[in-house]
Amino acid sequence: MTTAIYPGSFDPLTFGHVDIIERSTRLFDKVIVAILTNPQKAALFTVKERTELMHDILEPRFPNVEIDVFEGLLVDYAKQKKAQVIVRGIRAISDYEYEFQMALMNRRLAPEIETVFMTPAEHYSYLSSRLVKEIAELGGSVSGLVPELVEKRLKQRFKK
Ligand code: PNS
Repeated sequence: MTTAIYPGSFDPLTFGHVDIIERSTRLFDKVIVAILTNPQKAALFTVKERTELMHDILEPRFPNVEIDVFEGLLVDYAKQKKAQVIVRGIRAISDYEYEFQMALMNRRLAPEIETVFMTPAEHYSYLSSRLVKEIAELGGSVSGLVPELVEKRLKQRFKK
């Protein structure tokens, strides 16, 4: 049984993330989508809000997905969960340098854990949580970029 961790901030979850999750569920027996608790990073949605949203969106659709929260080193969390794989999405070459650095550092810390890079569908290759937040804050439409529930929450959050 292969367990994969898909870690991230997911602030908020986009269709790019959902695409990577869907691909992962076809490759691995269990996929743990792990939200990082990072007190240093200001977030739009609290970890609790993100967890609830992701439960509602992902669990009915993917039976082998589990949503969890983690803090501290990712490799320690992966070991604790007995995961063999870390999944990361790569959209463009610009993502690669940081991801490559992180994958090699994680390998140094835990050589038994393998990082697997996956690419989302090309129409999501320019999509990021940061841009989604900016567009929503400035009143633009994020329809087709994020699940409907996320779109609704963004509208509530930025209601004037
Ligand atoms: O969605 P993000 O913000 O790009 O995710 C980054 C994440 C959560 C994968 C990364 O920040 C992380 O793994 N943080 C946990 C702390 C850690 O293990 N740091 C060492 C990385 S080599």
